[in-house]
Amino acid sequence: MATATVQGLRARQVLDSRGRPTVEVDAIASTGEIGRAIVPSGASTGRHEALELRDGDPKHYGGLGVLKAVGHVAATIAPAVRGMSLDDQAAIDAKLLELDGTPNKSRLGANAMLGVSLAVAHAAAAARGEELYVHLNRLWKGRLDAAGAAAAGIDAGPTMPLPMVNMISGGLHAGGNLDIQDVLVMPVGAESYSHALEMIVAMYRAVGAVLAERGLESALVGDEGGYGPKLRNNEQALEIVVDAMLACGFEPGRDAAIALDIASTHFFDPASSSYSFANTKGSTIDSDAMIAMLSDWVDRYPVISIEDGLAEDDWAGWERLTVALGGKVQLIGDDLFATQSARLAKGIEAKAANAILIKVNQVGTLSETLDALVLARRNGYRPVVSARSGETEDATIADLAVATAAGQIKIGSVARSERLAKYNRMIRIEEALGEGARFTKIR
Ligand code: PGA
Ligand code: ZN
Repeated sequence: MATATVQGLRARQVLDSRGRPTVEVDAIASTGEIGRAIVPSGASTGRHEALELRDGDPKHYGGLGVLKAVGHVAATIAPAVRGMSLDDQAAIDAKLLELDGTPNKSRLGANAMLGVSLAVAHAAAAARGEELYVHLNRLWKGRLDAAGAAAAGIDAGPTMPLPMVNMISGGLHAGGNLDIQDVLVMPVGAESYSHALEMIVAMYRAVGAVLAERGLESALVGDEGGYGPKLRNNEQALEIVVDAMLACGFEPGRDAAIALDIASTHFFDPASSSYSFANTKGSTIDSDAMIAMLSDWVDRYPVISIEDGLAEDDWAGWERLTVALGGKVQLIGDDLFATQSARLAKGIEAKAANAILIKVNQVGTLSETLDALVLARRNGYRPVVSARSGETEDATIADLAVATAAGQIKIGSVARSERLAKYNRMIRIEEALGEGARFTKIR
């Protein structure tokens, strides 16, 4: 079996959840099936991410059009991959890298390349008559074998992940006044994925009720569906989420815990090496004061995970942050690692962070995403597969998280259908895995 090849590619410009253009690719199998993928887009984009190619033509979509990237799929990529085996994802991704030839995918655009890379995986699964997660799981096992990692006891999946879910949004994602980007919950006491989802929905509703009771904005939501209230300070968001847990009858820290995405790169000033809080007047602090503030929150709130607690190039700070908190909480590098294996390797060497956010469009191909996942797992860094703030109905990351037994997934809130497309996809996968569906417990 599995002799299907790439017959052709079609690409078009569609819109994402913020109404911004993005790339959609259809990969057509020689056997007639079509695989489709749509590329996500970030707002709090790190400097080390692969390049998202935008047209820059102010007459169309304020310069955000992606017709150049779409054109690269048709003119450059399609003729080069035609006839290649759909099952050989590594060869197709290698071809994409060769065609691009730049370190940050600036020639073809990471959006063009990722659209093709993911559409090929979808077409390969369709040609085999398999669900995407089944096909991705085969690719994952192949990668583990090649790395000798299966023998090292790394989970070969498929496993349902624990969701880390946005409750209150700030930073570049919402109109409120929070400097930190997300206050999230992790339903750590859940027994299954579907149980986790029900707990999350209860907490989401409870956060809305707590905000309404206090006369705070409880209807408008941010880009990822979290509430976007104007609060007294960052800490008030943590208090509200704890109150919502209690209102649900959950014991904070046991049934549900808090995760934070500080996204601190966006209020870091490299010139003065300091972090500036807009909503705490005159508050500009250095890395050590940031570490002290985060440590204080960990002591006083049920916080078990902190993402981008320090900025993307504050390596020395990250080392000290990891010494201070790495034994107690999950420290995730998002902008820090940008899903790039080379940056992750540097972090492993320096003992910076102990977890990595995995965003497919930060690196631009499925194979490089799998590389980062393997490197993380081999070194005990927990992966968290993540969506972007700009998303679509494409639910590929749900299959990816299950297929690679990543353990955790971060999609945004349980509002807005570009988020629910992924949560609902995992409901179907859990059903397909049946009674014995494995589920990751995180403590
Ligand atoms: P972004 O936000 O997609 O805007 O980068 C998500 C995150 O920071 O995790
Ligand atoms: Zn982040």
